[in-house]
Amino acid sequence: MSVPAVFMSQSTIPILQQEINEALGALRLAERAPRRLYAPAAYLLELPAKRTRPLLCLLAYRAWQPDHTSCMPAALALELFHNFTLVHDDIMDNAPTRRGQPTVHARWDSSTAILAGDALYAYTQQLLVQAFPQQAAALIRCYSQAALEVCEGQMRDMELAAAEAATLADYMAMIEQKTAALIGGSLCIGALAAQAPPGAPEALDRYGRLMGIAFQLLDDLLDVYAEADKFGKQPGGDIIENKKTYLWLRAHELADPAQLQALQYWASVQDQPEAKVAAVRALYDNLDLPTRTRDLIVDYRRQAEARLQPLLPNPALQILHEYLSEVLTRAY
Ligand code: IPE
Ligand code: MG
Ligand code: MG
Ligand code: MG
Repeated sequence: MSVPAVFMSQSTIPILQQEINEALGALRLAERAPRRLYAPAAYLLELPAKRTRPLLCLLAYRAWQPDHTSCMPAALALELFHNFTLVHDDIMDNAPTRRGQPTVHARWDSSTAILAGDALYAYTQQLLVQAFPQQAAALIRCYSQAALEVCEGQMRDMELAAAEAATLADYMAMIEQKTAALIGGSLCIGALAAQAPPGAPEALDRYGRLMGIAFQLLDDLLDVYAEADKFGKQPGGDIIENKKTYLWLRAHELADPAQLQALQYWASVQDQPEAKVAAVRALYDNLDLPTRTRDLIVDYRRQAEARLQPLLPNPALQILHEYLSEVLTRAY
């Protein structure tokens, strides 16, 4: 039973998150054979998470349809896709922990993590087609565009990590692809499935991309500053891996010659991760980077708001934007 539109409020969000978790559980992924493939595939998926992408898909659908039941398989496809990218991303980033637990490749091994990710990805296509067979072509077009962009963005992320320098434009292009394309795509898929008016799926895609950029900026900030136990990931992982984040880029622009020399020295250090994270974090503090990053996040949120405006008033979209804005301003 869907929450009627007239009763939609911020409390709709936890209801939807609960429905998503129940629907994920009902897939019974961990019980499938061979267990050696599906247990690691289900492992990350079953750990507590915000379920942002399926939530966005369902709320975009609810913007034009009264009941989201038929949209759930498409929403699940987006969560499975996201988890697939995380499993592979953790191999690429040498990440030891996620969601407070060992990563899939750390708990099993890289070959298992690659295959578990592949299985999640393959399953997404069944779920998408099952949800809306009539609109499958349009949905798959939108979905595969986002999926390709994620791969392109991930390759740019690795290229930039290995490069000595990067520009803000390189960084923006990279995060729009690796993170924001899927946020936009999740909204676009919900709107297409709901047979939203012409132009609305594209407008929501653009809104989602701008919010997605803000989310990656926050992810970069939290990587340096979040409390380890709340964050669930290794603190300072981006610094250890020399990732070209917004903080890294701005630090290199703002640093005086002595600070620049220190940044260059720490970039070359590979065997003292804790000292490296502490030293680079102190440099970021001196350059006021937490405030500068937060300011840019607000700027992207405002740009996104302007894109949403023509689609308002709409209870589902208003709830969606309030929720995302609240997540973006969460303290660390
Ligand atoms: C990767 O960005 C985004 C994708 C998984 C495509 P990050 O590497 O910054 O993501 P986290 O911090 O590991 O979650
Ligand atoms: Mg990562
Ligand atoms: Mg990464
Ligand atoms: Mg990150």
